[in-house]
Amino acid sequence: MTSRKKFIAGNWKMNKTSADGVTLVRDIVAAIGKQADVDVVVCPPFTGLESAAAALEGSNVKLGAQNMHFEASGAFTGEVSAPMLRAIFATHVILGHSERRTYFGETDEIVNKKVLAALKNQLRPIFCVGETLAERESGATLKVIQAQIERGLEGVSKEQAAGVVVAYEPVWAIGTGKVASTAQAQEVHAFIRGLLSNLFTDAVAQKVRILYGGSMKPANAPELLAQKDIDGGLIGGAALEARSFVELVNAAIAIK
Ligand code: PGA
Repeated sequence: MTSRKKFIAGNWKMNKTSADGVTLVRDIVAAIGKQADVDVVVCPPFTGLESAAAALEGSNVKLGAQNMHFEASGAFTGEVSAPMLRAIFATHVILGHSERRTYFGETDEIVNKKVLAALKNQLRPIFCVGETLAERESGATLKVIQAQIERGLEGVSKEQAAGVVVAYEPVWAIGTGKVASTAQAQEVHAFIRGLLSNLFTDAVAQKVRILYGGSMKPANAPELLAQKDIDGGLIGGAALEARSFVELVNAAIAIK
């Protein structure tokens, strides 16, 4: 199949106390902590990061945050920065999730600043893009995705770009139980890879992992993950229980 290693990330959103998070992480580590065929990342809320890092120690499962500020420090009440995340062993950060864009006013320009700050601090962005239902129904999907990709990755160098993980998450499929059809998802993933090839190089585009997100579950994952340009998943609801998350990782291992 492809030479890209599959990538499964769990986006816990605003769920789990740090104690509940440790329980979940322990169960995940016990089941798949040693496998190295698929990259696995868990993204607890800020309050659970440090305890999750301790519970992940010695395993192959990596730690990601769900957001960060683009400045390194300063008078930004309520925010945390890339160096702070690095200091507690986070390796990844979800940026530009549609919930951040919709509820917290994040524009492409803000997301771009965050992407650049993450890369400068050796944090790998899981950079999210996706169209709303109205945009899909009006035929604007590819135009919307193109604008988000071009603006969000502005100023990223070729060398940095290969380390970015892109997540395609149709907004209408997030938390709704409505999953994009494999054809709909593959079409957008291939389009994104083409854009990356134009923006950087074809070699870079072939290296970037492009995840699908939006109601991915053990039942629909094998078909989605078998698509040529779908390199993994950004998982919300199904990442909150060890059993379903581990099943998703195993589905990716089976395909790798
Ligand atoms: P979902 O969320 O799997 O619950 O649809 C995915 C996401 O928002 O990252």
